[in-house]
Amino acid sequence: MRVLLVCLGNICRSPAAEAALRESLAEAGLDDRVQVDSAGTGDWHLGKPPDPRMVAAAARAGLSVNGRARRVQPGELEGYDLILAMDRANLATLRAMARDDATRAKVRLFREFDETADADEVPDPYYGDPGGFSRVVEIVRAAARGLVGRLRDGVGDDRRCGP
Ligand code: 4NP
Repeated sequence: MRVLLVCLGNICRSPAAEAALRESLAEAGLDDRVQVDSAGTGDWHLGKPPDPRMVAAAARAGLSVNGRARRVQPGELEGYDLILAMDRANLATLRAMARDDATRAKVRLFREFDETADADEVPDPYYGDPGGFSRVVEIVRAAARGLVGRLRDGVGDDRRCGP
């Protein structure tokens, strides 16, 4: 199974979400069953490492955020089982990019998988205060835990995961 996590720049939210999902998958013993990647819908930061503010906030919480920013390519979406957007703008971009209905149906909001969440978007921390980055870590960890709970029930059979 393959999961793609998508935000705008691929330097804050989606790399943090990728790290959180890898962490949760490893805890559940599913890391060899699920491949995780991330990408951005924008191209401002191509090839750049994650934002240092994101890396620092994650490190304070014991999470290692890595990678290099890349832009999501329309033709790659078909290769994923789940394409998870951090916010509604990313969701709309991805759905417009999808070449068929089957692919479009795989595009969801990442935070939908956190049943305890009071919102369904991961807020963009880029222009906000430093606390926003720590909040992103908490949000993506909760969403990752929720998603892994769903995958634990669904991986290995044909059941669709998701609410
Ligand atoms: P991300 O954050 O989408 O979570 O990686 C952002 C990064 C860069 C910009 C906006 C959001 N930007 O406008 O450059």
